[in-house]
Amino acid sequence: PGPLPPPPFPTSSSVVPVTEMTVLVLGSGGREHAIALAISRDPQVRDLHVAPGNPGTASFATNHPVALTDPDAVVALAQQVGADLVVVGPEAPLVAGVADAVRAAGIDCFGPGAQAARLEGSKAFAKEVMAAAGVPTADAVNCVDLDEVEVALTRFGAPHVVKDDGLAAGKGVVVTSDRKAAVEHARHCLEAGHPVVIEDYLKGSEVSLFAICDGTRALPLQPAQDFKRVGNGGTGPNTGGMGAYTPLPWAPTDLVEQVSREVIAPTLAEMNRRDTPFQGLLYVGLALTAEGPKVVEFNVRFGDPETEPLLSLLTTPLAQVMRAAARGDLSQFGEGLEFRTGFAVGVVLASEGYPGTPETGRPITGAESADGGPDPDVIHAGTALDPDGRLVSAGGRVLVALGHGETLTGARQAAYTRLSRIELPGGFHRDDIALTAAEEEAFTAMSEPTSPSPSDPAQSE
Ligand code: GLY
Repeated sequence: PGPLPPPPFPTSSSVVPVTEMTVLVLGSGGREHAIALAISRDPQVRDLHVAPGNPGTASFATNHPVALTDPDAVVALAQQVGADLVVVGPEAPLVAGVADAVRAAGIDCFGPGAQAARLEGSKAFAKEVMAAAGVPTADAVNCVDLDEVEVALTRFGAPHVVKDDGLAAGKGVVVTSDRKAAVEHARHCLEAGHPVVIEDYLKGSEVSLFAICDGTRALPLQPAQDFKRVGNGGTGPNTGGMGAYTPLPWAPTDLVEQVSREVIAPTLAEMNRRDTPFQGLLYVGLALTAEGPKVVEFNVRFGDPETEPLLSLLTTPLAQVMRAAARGDLSQFGEGLEFRTGFAVGVVLASEGYPGTPETGRPITGAESADGGPDPDVIHAGTALDPDGRLVSAGGRVLVALGHGETLTGARQAAYTRLSRIELPGGFHRDDIALTAAEEEAFTAMSEPTSPSPSDPAQSE
C-alpha cells in the first residue's frame, strides 16, 4: 500500500470563517518540516514561509535565513513577509522571548512567552509548578553542589536521573545505573553554572502527549511514543529520538482524559495564577507507572520525531487551530482535534557518528517521490544542498521516513520500505521502531478474545 491520499479537512461548523493568512514557521528540523507541511494543507493558508527551513520545506514554502533566538530579527522578518501568524518550532527562541516580541509587534504568535517557556527552560521551575498544581510526578531535589548531588543520589537510588536545570539541546538528561556517570553529568552541569535536578526514576511505559493550549483551554493530540536510545532494543546513548509512532494501541483508553484532568488543566490553571498563561504546545512526557501516569518532563514545543507521524494523521486544519490558540480562544474547536484512522510510523535515518559528532556533507539519494518531486513521506531534518544543488547530510538526524497503514504492522512496513530506497553513506537507523506494539497487535489478531496478552508490552527504554 502506498501513501494515503491527503487528508480531507472537516467541513463541520467547528471551522472558523474563511480568512486567508500568511504564516511564518520558525525552525529548520524535521519537526518544522512536519509542522509546515500540515499548515500547507490548511485551505486558509495563502502564503507559507519558513525560517531558516531546510531543503524539504523549500519544496513547498519560501525559506529565509534568520537568527532564531534574536527577537528583533524574527519580528523584522515577520513584518517583511506580512505574516499574520508566526509559529515557533524549537524551544530556544521561546525561552529567548521571541514569542513575546512577535506579539508585542501586533502579530499572532503560536508559542509561549519567555516566562511560560520556563516550563521547559528550567527543570526546577517545572517541578515547582507541578508541585503547586498537584500534578503527579517523580520526587526530585534541586542541587547546587556535589555534596547535595551525592545525598540525593543515595536517597533515590539507581537508576539515577540527573537533569541539567537549563536548556541543553537534548543532552541535559542522563538516566543511568552507573553512579559515577551520574556524578560526572552533575559535575559537568554544575561547572557550567547550572544547578541540577536529581529525581526518583519512574518505572513504566513512556508516552508523549501533546496539547495545543490557548492559555485556559487545551486540545490534546493523540498519544505517541518515541524511541530515545540510539540502538535496537533501547541500547546505547540517548538521542533526540530515533523514531516514533501513533496512536498507541496498548495505552489505556482513558489516558488522554485522565492526563487532561490531572496534568494539563491544573498546569494551565497554575500558570494563570502566576499571570504567565501558557499558550502554545504543551508537551507532556509521561511514564505510565503502577500508580498511574506521572510526568517525566514538560516541554513547550512539539516533540521531534513524534510530530512527524502525528501531524501526518491530523485532519483538523492546523493553521486555524494555531491562530485560534494564539488569540486565546480555542472554543470553536470544542469537538477536539481530528485524525485519520490508522497508524503512522516514523523512522529516523541518522548520520554516521550520531549522537556523537555526526558526519555531514554526504550525498543522499532516493529521498524524492517516484516522479522526482518532493515526497510527503520523507521529512527532512538535517539536510542541505551542496554548491551543485545536490542533497547532502547536514546534521545527526538526517531524514524521517513515514509510513501509514490501517494496522501498525502495515504502517511499519510502509515506513521501512520507504527508508530502504534512501541511500546515505554511513547512515543508519533502528530496526525496531514500533516493533513490540506491532508484534502485540499481530498476537492479539491471532488470539481468541479471551487469550492472555503477551507479557507487559513495556514499550519504554
Ligand atoms: N522526542 C523528544 C523531544 O522532542 O524532546
